[in-house]
Amino acid sequence: MWAVTGPGDLGARIASWRAGGRRIAFVPTMGNLHAGHLALVQRARALAERVVVSVFVNPTQFAPGEDYDSYPRTLEADRRRLEAAGVDLLFAPEVRAIYPHAVQIDASYPVPTVGQGLEDAFRPGFFSGVITVVKRLFDLVAPDVAVFGEKDYQQLCVVRAMVRELGLPIDIASVETVREADGLALSSRNQYLSAHEREIAPQLQRTLREVAAAVGAGETAFARLESQAMERLRGVGFVPDYVCLRAVETLRPLAVGARAGVVLAAARLGRARLIDNVIF
Ligand code: PAJ
Repeated sequence: MWAVTGPGDLGARIASWRAGGRRIAFVPTMGNLHAGHLALVQRARALAERVVVSVFVNPTQFAPGEDYDSYPRTLEADRRRLEAAGVDLLFAPEVRAIYPHAVQIDASYPVPTVGQGLEDAFRPGFFSGVITVVKRLFDLVAPDVAVFGEKDYQQLCVVRAMVRELGLPIDIASVETVREADGLALSSRNQYLSAHEREIAPQLQRTLREVAAAVGAGETAFARLESQAMERLRGVGFVPDYVCLRAVETLRPLAVGARAGVVLAAARLGRARLIDNVIF
């Protein structure tokens, strides 16, 4: 596996693969890799002949007071895991390689509509930061296909919308959420949970599964289902931001009578803010 930090070295390696006609898959991450990230890598390997993974904790997607400084940075362990997983190139840039002029969002392309509401209501500016870095990374790597997780479902929708709206020649592939045996979605932020909170945490997914099952069974009182789910989460110790039933592609509120959709939630539990969703 090659490991590079500069856009120049990255570009040279990519150019030589392109000249050889290789198809390139790309997996952007913020590192601290777990089995969820590695599932993305496996999908990438199945989709292309060369796999590039970036590890970059992107400052512009963290609001002041969020965990940018304390976000777990474990590059050496990440490097070993990626090498063992058969990755061809690790791109681990410094901040100034991604933001050569100023650490700020790229306002030339506004966040697509699907990025309004939900996460955006609680983390204003988050998707502007994500879009800025993903666009920059796409420019540098120029992949044929990029792989994202369903765990961050709204982010996946935002990236798909960006690629469509800008006409970028990149396929977006998605991978189902990888979970612990008890249903908790794997996340770097799970390590912020105390032992007691870790026991409670799977209730998030359980609650969403119940909401999804109720709609699938014909329940139509969506607002009541959402507020009951929030209540239930509060009852076990979460501080929920939202539980919302939405249409799978547009993320618009679910139409009356719909039996398919996605239920998305974010909830704080102690120091951690967990997000999850169930597609039904
Ligand atoms: P990060 O949180 O490191 O996640 C990188 C990718 O891994 C995302 O596509 C995310 O959806 C996926 N992922 C995380 N946990 C997963 C799980 N349990 N199962 C399946 N996939 C999972 O998301 C980001 O980084 C950043 O916002 C980024 C896109 C890299 C831009 O900075």
